[in-house]
Amino acid sequence: MAERTLIIIKPDGVQRHLAGRIIARFEQKGLKLVAAKLMQISQELARQLYAVHRGKPFYEGIVKYLCSAPTLVTVWQAEGVIKMTRKMIGATFGYEAEPGTIRGDFGCSQRYNLVHGSDSPESAQSEIGLFFRPDEIVDYELADADWLYGRND
Ligand code: TYD
Ligand code: MG
Repeated sequence: MAERTLIIIKPDGVQRHLAGRIIARFEQKGLKLVAAKLMQISQELARQLYAVHRGKPFYEGIVKYLCSAPTLVTVWQAEGVIKMTRKMIGATFGYEAEPGTIRGDFGCSQRYNLVHGSDSPESAQSEIGLFFRPDEIVDYELADADWLYGRND
């Protein structure tokens, strides 16, 4: 099975009506959407997602922000999807992210940076497990897979 990653459209992305445009970027790239749910994330879940940041000065702030309004939580699948999506999302702070990236094009805040994306295979696996049961992830063949991956000759 190809690699999977957890991508969350954070509260500012949903509130600013950017969810569709952000999803569209991953679709255009040819990545396969295999799970999605709109949900307001609980404190407990946010604390688990951000467990690696516990004790850092920004920890309480990012937990509060992530729980403040609904998010669109998604899983995408493709070979190399983690590196690809991290590049597409851009640098952590909107004011430093390159134009052409999601954070670079849509925001200029430090904390309100629109999107979460897993940063390694290990974190992707544990983060996906926090939000989805295995039966909520739908695997299927994309009709244009041969064209996407250059297997059509
Ligand atoms: P991090 O995992 O380092 O960034 P990324 O989202 O690019 O993987 O940090 C998690 C979130 O915490 C990040 O999206 C924004 C916020 N944050 C701050 O508010 N201040 C900081 O100094 C850092 C490093 C992150
Ligand atoms: Mg991170």
